[in-house]
Amino acid sequence: MYTQLVNNLDELGFTDVEPYLSEYLTTATKDGISLQEALYEISKREISLRNQRAAQIQVSVSHFPYIKTADEFDFHFRNTVSRTEIKDLATLRFIENKENILFYGTPGTGKTHLATAIGIEAARKRNITYFITCHDLIQTLRKAHDENRLESRLKHFSKYKLLIIDEIGYLPVDKTGANLLFQLIAKRYEHNSTIITTNQPFSKWGDVFSDSMLANAILDRLLNHSHVLKMVGPSYRTKDYYDLLDSGEQNQSR
Ligand SMILES: Nc1ncnc2c1ncn2[C@@H]1O[C@H](COP(=O)(O)OP(=O)(O)OP(=O)(O)O)[C@@H](O)[C@H]1O
Ligand SMILES: [Mg+2]
Repeated sequence: MYTQLVNNLDELGFTDVEPYLSEYLTTATKDGISLQEALYEISKREISLRNQRAAQIQVSVSHFPYIKTADEFDFHFRNTVSRTEIKDLATLRFIENKENILFYGTPGTGKTHLATAIGIEAARKRNITYFITCHDLIQTLRKAHDENRLESRLKHFSKYKLLIIDEIGYLPVDKTGANLLFQLIAKRYEHNSTIITTNQPFSKWGDVFSDSMLANAILDRLLNHSHVLKMVGPSYRTKDYYDLLDSGEQNQSR
């Protein structure tokens, strides 16, 4: 009978129930839990496990460079950004409001880390999210253009509830690349949120995109309804090196 019950539940798609069912039925019988209560409990657990699984899948298909959360970020290190601000962004209100986030700053200050942390939060809440570097995004669009399927690729990338474009300005972009990126940003504008990270001040984007008019058009759409976070300071990557220098200086001054 028990095996048949498990098989039936499995066939109905209650795939997560089995590991705890036997133990739960024993407890329920012992504690005199009503049939209604037991069915409610089993269905509630199944829904919760299913949601957890869906959240995990969404995170795993979002293409994050690593899994790091805001809890792993040391907000006291050079105080470049406030925990309150990041916590507020992690509520994901910006996605509801179709706003963008722009992280600007020097290398190693945590731009990618925090963009990823917010992205993970969005993915866990089942927002379709995708992380890609600016270079890879433009290469993908360029290939689609050459193969006469640009429109469908643009549609694909504009559908993400949250698109994270990492490393704008690290490699120069030619005019065709800038044009392709502009088309995507224009399609997403006021429909879905975009997070970008850049090491270039906005005034230099004309040089990055080999065309100041296109650069301005991209920036204009990104900056309208946006949160800009400036993260300028020493790199966390070389933190230990700076700590060593600091302690060396202290020793010398003694
Ligand atoms: N304040 C911090 N607390 C904890 N880890 C940090 C902090 N800042 C940066 N890191 C870590 O340092 C490394 C570099 O950070 P990250 O990749 O986010 O830098 P970045 O600002 O994107 O740099 P780049 O401009 O070179 O891409 C990562 O492993 C990140 O997790
Ligand atoms: Mg980075």
